Amino acid sequence: MGKVPPVVVGVSGASGAPIALRVLRALGEAGRPVTLVVSAGAKTVLREEAGVEASALAGLASELYDDSDLTAPIASGSTPTAGMAVVPCSSNTAAKIALGLGDTLLTRAAHVHLKEHRPLILVPRETPLSTLLLRHLTTLSEVGAVVLVASPAYYLRPTTIDDVTDYLAGKVLDHLGVPHQLYRGWKASERPR
Ligand SMILES: Cc1cc2nc3c(=O)[nH]c(=O)nc-3n(C[C@H](O)[C@H](O)[C@H](O)COP(=O)(O)O)c2cc1C
Repeated sequence: MGKVPPVVVGVSGASGAPIALRVLRALGEAGRPVTLVVSAGAKTVLREEAGVEASALAGLASELYDDSDLTAPIASGSTPTAGMAVVPCSSNTAAKIALGLGDTLLTRAAHVHLKEHRPLILVPRETPLSTLLLRHLTTLSEVGAVVLVASPAYYLRPTTIDDVTDYLAGKVLDHLGVPHQLYRGWKASERPR
């Protein structure tokens, strides 16, 4: 049996660093190898929101590449992967991906996922949404990306911010096809297992 291909996680500089951390932990708990790339913007937000340096995320990934390293394997479609999540996805990064720009490893890897028709999940966090961002997200959805907006499911009655974070991380894993127990669906307790 061959090696299990990694899930690529790109962390960009939108608010929502705790969601990225939860996704990374959950992928680790599910035994999935992770290739991680953290944008310059995300380094600032990680510090502000989670009090962590990007280098500290190395322990949550099998491989960590610098966003400027365009020689990394994930810059090429010849490297197998199990899909990519950009979590959170800044408006800047969404715009670049929608326009096909690949001047950073994160945006190049996203472009590779689109051209290879592999899963690409984007988690934008912005409000209100500008018309420009809406246009870019529409383009991304049209070309096959999943636009998974970081919005809570109040019907699940979250009581803590961790509940909301777990739910959003769980939705990302759902779309990567990775089993998890981060949240239980609507009336799940009433459904037969
Ligand atoms: C504390 C903080 C919070 C931010 N929140 C958001 C956000 O929610 N959404 C967004 O699109 N940009 C947000 N930004 C702005 C981006 O970080 C900025 O546009 C950056 O250039 C994005 O770079 P990147 O796309 O390479 O990560 C935030 C910046 C900071 C410092």
